[in-house]
Amino acid sequence: MAVGIFDSGLGGLTVLDAVQKRLPDLPLIYLGDNAHTPYGVREADDIYNLSTAGVQALFDKGCDLVILACNTASAAALRRMQEGWVPEDKRVLGVFVPLIEALTERQWGDNSPPREVGVKEVALFATPTTVSSRAFQRELAFRAIGVDVEAQPCGGVVDAIEQGDMILAEALVRSHVEALQRRMPKPQAAILGCTHYPLVEDVFRDALGADVAVYSQPSLVADSLADYLERRPNMIGSGEPGFYTSGDPKSVESKATLFLRRKISFETLE
Ligand code: DGL
Repeated sequence: MAVGIFDSGLGGLTVLDAVQKRLPDLPLIYLGDNAHTPYGVREADDIYNLSTAGVQALFDKGCDLVILACNTASAAALRRMQEGWVPEDKRVLGVFVPLIEALTERQWGDNSPPREVGVKEVALFATPTTVSSRAFQRELAFRAIGVDVEAQPCGGVVDAIEQGDMILAEALVRSHVEALQRRMPKPQAAILGCTHYPLVEDVFRDALGADVAVYSQPSLVADSLADYLERRPNMIGSGEPGFYTSGDPKSVESKATLFLRRKISFETLE
């Protein structure tokens, strides 16, 4: 029994960690496409091809449900996957919607028309591909009106994290926050729209200041998965839990162990 979690690399581990805390008995199979990270600077077709290959590998390992724990893939490929590729008995869920539901104070599955919400000025931090897709603004417009979104493409941050260079990652985060603040000096809320960013969440919080409410995905995604599985327990699937990578397992597991502060062993994806 296992649910799949897919990301371009290490970022999806932030979602896996929150899911394991929320649903400790749920078996999970993780796949990081570290050989092809970062996705955030790739073309949509390329992201679609890599994401379908990764999700198919998780289906082949027995997963019926896969969390696409990558905003870039959720923004650039998920809709196309759901419309023409995902088999009828399988499901692929993205990570955007739980975040937007939290920001717009909606209950799960509330499909009522868009309405005014408390928050008016929102800063979005995400990869260049996620920002240019405008997928966040599109999903937000289905649920809320009158929200001004200023988006900052955070070039280089995912690369630095994947290389384990946290000093560079921190410097880049601070300069991206400053760049955004020049255009929107006082956002009420900030969205960390990349699953790698919770690994530098403290830096975002420090650079943004205490007045800014920071929305981070992992626990929101974990709560919405718990809700989904309560209604669809048959989607848990089959297969042995494990951690797989398309990259070098030794290097991936040493960074993963550092980030999650517990020993994690990765295997090569055959
Ligand atoms: N963690 C992915 C996301 O949420 C990273 C993207 C990348 O590989 O650039 O967007």
